[in-house]
Amino acid sequence: MVILIDEIMQIASEIRKIIEYGTKAPSGHNTQPWKFRLCENEIQIHPDFERALPIVDPDNHALYISLGCAAENIILAGRNLGCNPDLKIEKDTDGVNFISIKVQRDSAAQKDDLFNYIEKRQVTRNAYDDTSIVSKDLKQLIDAAEFKGVHIRSFSTQEEIDQLVPFIIEGSNLQFHKKAFVNELVSRIRFSKKEVEEKRDGIWHSSMGMPGVGLVLGNLIMKKFVDTKSEAKRWKKIIRSTPTFILFLAEKDDVVHWVNTGRALQRFGLMATKLQINHAHVNMPCEEIEVRKKMALALGIEKQHPLLLVRLGYSKRMPYSYRRPVEEVFG
Ligand SMILES: Cc1cc2nc3c(=O)[nH]c(=O)nc-3n(C[C@H](O)[C@H](O)[C@H](O)COP(=O)(O)O)c2cc1C
Repeated sequence: MVILIDEIMQIASEIRKIIEYGTKAPSGHNTQPWKFRLCENEIQIHPDFERALPIVDPDNHALYISLGCAAENIILAGRNLGCNPDLKIEKDTDGVNFISIKVQRDSAAQKDDLFNYIEKRQVTRNAYDDTSIVSKDLKQLIDAAEFKGVHIRSFSTQEEIDQLVPFIIEGSNLQFHKKAFVNELVSRIRFSKKEVEEKRDGIWHSSMGMPGVGLVLGNLIMKKFVDTKSEAKRWKKIIRSTPTFILFLAEKDDVVHWVNTGRALQRFGLMATKLQINHAHVNMPCEEIEVRKKMALALGIEKQHPLLLVRLGYSKRMPYSYRRPVEEVFG
């Protein structure tokens, strides 16, 4: 009896740990738009639409990419504990897609070294120095991220990067023209340590390299002094210091491919961490649908869907973002 209770306690603590690794995943504006549920040998990841971003992500593609990132962490953590997790996309009784991961002990389960980088990974929004990424590392990154229905294209020469620049600037301009976009973004920035410690989500000012100015001044600065012009200038500077961009292309624009893109992004981020290469998002040309289509056409990939644009490079790392505790993401 005592042994049974010990075993149950150990399983409960292992499952808690696995879910905690899931919560370490990246998500758009760090909304952490997930709810985890347990069903026998299955961990379910459901979307939390109360944490959706209807202006920047009206079709929820970024939300499901975030769930895919969390799923990949859970799979890596499960394998590390000697299980062989099996992922499927299911629908709940309301027809809403969720991720089901069956977790069973398997003596043939293979550990994956990328697990060791889950807690170290971060999005690093600094400007990078112009050190190139060596081709051996670039190949490892691309190989880590190749996934069913997801393809990776890299842009490293000046000519290649120049192809992206007009779309990055057009996407940024369109977004900063929209009051609703700025309001949604600002509502997710945590301008003081007190606020981020209370909410444990959102984009903490320190993780963006901004000083803690508090809610009122932060709102004022973002709404009065940040505009299309200042953003375009900031992006041009960042682009100049970026040696390589990576575009994630999905074969289809649906939930299965969004989740697979998330799994690919997570493996990419973990491999980058292992190789001590920093990465951050430049998603504006993928988020603005008209720009996304134009960019795909210009790059000769109009049959594919560019869902994420990421920059790579070297810089100092930033303070880590916060996460909500496991108890809050359960149910
Ligand atoms: C689907 C997706 C879209 C994202 N889009 C952006 C973006 O447009 N700009 C940005 O700076 N970060 C973006 N991020 C990064 C998140 O803001 C970041 O993951 C979150 O703040 C948590 O920080 P961490 O990844 O360092 O833990 C995105 C992440 C995901 C998964």
